[in-house]
Amino acid sequence: MCGIVGYIGDQQVYPILIKGLKRLEYRGYDSAGIAIFDQEIALHKCKGKVADLEAHAKNGSVSGTIGIGHTRWATHGLPNDVNAHPHFSDSKSIVMIHNGIIENYSALRKMLEKRGYAFRSETDSEVLLNLIEDVQKKEKVELDQAVRIALHEVVGAYAIVLFSKENPDRLIAAKKGSPLVIGVGEGEYFLASDATPIVEYTRNVVYLEDEEIAVIDRAQGLNIINIKNQKITPYLQEVELQLEELEKGGYEHFMLKEIYEQPRSIADSMRGRISVDGTTVALGGIKDYEQKLINARRIIMVACGTSWHAGLVGEYLFEDLARIPVEVEYASEFRYRNPVIYEDDVVIAISQSGETADTLAAIEMAKSKGATIIGICNVVGSSIARATHAGSYTHAGPEIGVASTKAFTAQVTVLTLMALSIGHKKGTLPTQRYQQLIRDLEQIPSKIEKVLKQNDKIKQLSDKFFQATNFLYLGRGYSFPVALEGALKLKEISYIHAEGYPAAEMKHGPIALIDEQMPVVVIAPKASFYEKVVSNIQEIKARKGIVIGVVSEGDKTVSEIADHIIEVPHTDEVLMPLISSVPLQLLSYHIALLRDCNVDQPRNLAKSVTVE
Ligand code: F6R
Repeated sequence: MCGIVGYIGDQQVYPILIKGLKRLEYRGYDSAGIAIFDQEIALHKCKGKVADLEAHAKNGSVSGTIGIGHTRWATHGLPNDVNAHPHFSDSKSIVMIHNGIIENYSALRKMLEKRGYAFRSETDSEVLLNLIEDVQKKEKVELDQAVRIALHEVVGAYAIVLFSKENPDRLIAAKKGSPLVIGVGEGEYFLASDATPIVEYTRNVVYLEDEEIAVIDRAQGLNIINIKNQKITPYLQEVELQLEELEKGGYEHFMLKEIYEQPRSIADSMRGRISVDGTTVALGGIKDYEQKLINARRIIMVACGTSWHAGLVGEYLFEDLARIPVEVEYASEFRYRNPVIYEDDVVIAISQSGETADTLAAIEMAKSKGATIIGICNVVGSSIARATHAGSYTHAGPEIGVASTKAFTAQVTVLTLMALSIGHKKGTLPTQRYQQLIRDLEQIPSKIEKVLKQNDKIKQLSDKFFQATNFLYLGRGYSFPVALEGALKLKEISYIHAEGYPAAEMKHGPIALIDEQMPVVVIAPKASFYEKVVSNIQEIKARKGIVIGVVSEGDKTVSEIADHIIEVPHTDEVLMPLISSVPLQLLSYHIALLRDCNVDQPRNLAKSVTVE
């Protein structure tokens, strides 16, 4: 949700800001803007993407060595030029970018209007900026103190970066609930929503914590205070991110690259967690909390979107292998529902970005009620990773395509490893089956390679269906979450309405939708309930629906009744979601391309949902 960048140092700031915004564009692409100081503040902003901003900015002066930039995912106010960031304060002496939501903006705006402030935009961000200006005037303090005092008045989430024309040698930044990373170079500093715009300049970073304010001055360097005005010692860390991981590497889209990366990303999720002799699983990050999991009264998975679907696979895994009752919760509902939480509940929070606002709030709520929180995150050092008691990173590498692909399979891999380890230690998973499943898991990357070889076939299939207006995805057991995920992938990037359903539930409603126009993707590998799924397919065919079956290699039965099939290598049903989700990713990718959709940046979406 919005990407922000900032720079102060000796280099020309314009290319640094533009490059940084391009790296962060996955966070929002409704509008973009920059403000750079050179004698005065030059502001360029417009509706559209960073490329539009580049065209726009060429008309003005863009030299300078201090500046800020923003790429927006609209919350308050339409995505237009005026609402684009950066914003000027009323007197035009301060300029600011903001990621987050100021919940009490309306009351603050009324108060400021009464005090004579005029607003140019509809944004909550401009309200916060004028509040800061008002405090500075009233209290006659330096800008950093005005920021600190103003933030006491604010309810909501923010990551802000600002500077004033009175002191253009100083950047000020603050955060609460939205991420902000400071890159520390030789006499230069970078600010960004995540480390991706920073790594090509420096690997040394400081993750600003909630309610901290960073003051970065050309002469005095970096100083951090908190909202109570206490001095904080910056904690310098090294990021491991490789630059190549942030490039498309010859693929047409990040999404396609990330789909193809899955054999490697799944192997990376397993790396170091399976013993060399392949007989045991150990997850170092949760070692001290394993007993908690073994004794858990209940596991509650909290997540959103695709990560929620991974949590659903986790439910099947933990109930099946470790015999622990599991509930899977949408973080956005869970956080406000006043749920019953016991001290011996373990919450597993799943998030690719580690920044999803609802998941973060659900964690805080469950923590306050005494539950143990384990995180499964992809982004190292992210807010969720830091808010949990313990956790396991997925190690999938940066996921830049807005539609999640390799993060999903990496999350499922980590959940599988956890369920295997806990189930075996708890005694609910016999050693022989435990070790067989480990061996099978190690085979998954090469089996996905085989699925990827069917790309051309899936592309041809897409050709037949890209004009469909509706799709149904059905599965039972472990294939049910895969059906949900397949439907989500299709709707989010191709804008075709798609629903995922448990195959047997179909006759309680959705069957009414089936006619000769309706493609129905049925995930029907050889697994428990296979015959029952075959009956469901017969029910669809009896109503003239078009069936695309995702089946185990060599399948005869479904192949005879389905209109089209995609064969996937066989594996234990426990591990099948790792394989069967991949052809569905490719199907939605090709359909979206044929519909001329922007695959990596689908409309209305953003990669990291840092607002609730
Ligand atoms: C769908 C997708 C979203 C995310 C969701 C949660 O392809 O990417 O549904 O899964 O916004 O995001 P994270 O996992 O970052 O918490």
